[in-house]
Amino acid sequence: MSKTILVATEKPFAKKALKRMRKIIHNAEGFDLRLLERYNGTELHEAMTDADALIVRSDKVIDTVIKSAKKLKIVVRAGAGYDNIDVEAASAQKVTVMNTPGQNSNGVAELAFGLMLGLIRRKYLGGPGTELKGKSIGLHGFGHIGKCMAQIAKGFNMKVFAFDPYVDKKEMKELDVKPCKYAEELYKKVNFISLNIPVNEKTERSINYKLLKKARKRVVLVNTARKDLIDEKGLMRIMNERPEFMYASDIAPTWKIEMEEKFPMRTLFTTKKMGAQTVEANTNAGVAAVNQVIDFFEKGDVTFKVN
Ligand code: 3PG
Repeated sequence: MSKTILVATEKPFAKKALKRMRKIIHNAEGFDLRLLERYNGTELHEAMTDADALIVRSDKVIDTVIKSAKKLKIVVRAGAGYDNIDVEAASAQKVTVMNTPGQNSNGVAELAFGLMLGLIRRKYLGGPGTELKGKSIGLHGFGHIGKCMAQIAKGFNMKVFAFDPYVDKKEMKELDVKPCKYAEELYKKVNFISLNIPVNEKTERSINYKLLKKARKRVVLVNTARKDLIDEKGLMRIMNERPEFMYASDIAPTWKIEMEEKFPMRTLFTTKKMGAQTVEANTNAGVAAVNQVIDFFEKGDVTFKVN
């Protein structure tokens, strides 16, 4: 009997990505694709009953979703951050959880520069702005996205610094990136700060007032990572205290409207999470997810297992 791969996305994959995913599933034989887009909670629970594999994006995979799936063996998050999946509940039910690291990094990195440019070009409203050339950027996190950002920053002739306690300094130096020992050191040094770290119990609300206070004058903080990294009270306080502090993000803060009203030229927010919203990123992550599911069933491959 063929295995059902349920692709459940509240924010659908690009058509081209889906076409590629369908083709791979069709060619593999023994697998069926079931597509659930812009669904509600009940629909997801129902669809899970006969799913052997689940592929999602930022969709919340809570414990009841996992429990409603008696046949489920694997969940693949087509993307990097898997904080949307209840990994503990999955492990308890012996369900393998994977992500597709690096597949959508370039899309996220390019958006971070788009947001930076939007702010320093004063939202393209006509007034004179400033340039990236010769300025310094601090990469808070030097994983796949951080590395993409370093490459792009070099193209803009920026000086690049990074802080990441989990990455060997040698790796940074090889890419002409100056390592910082502490986050505070990074924040003190640079004109632009980009958050490229996952959210977990260690990093949640770690971007707080104390840290932001260290940032140099006229800094632009860009968050294309996760909302929960930011201590929003601390951010609001720094925005109020420092009339030159700028913040851009594709994950709007709780006080989005208030911030936009108070600091119209110092904030820039997209309408929804946009980092990986490119045809290329969707295709890379979607294709990787499908291949990982098939390899898991056919070869027992657990290369990208996170639990
Ligand atoms: C990721 O963690 O891979 C990104 O945040 C992209 O998320 P998305 O699939 O919801 O666009």
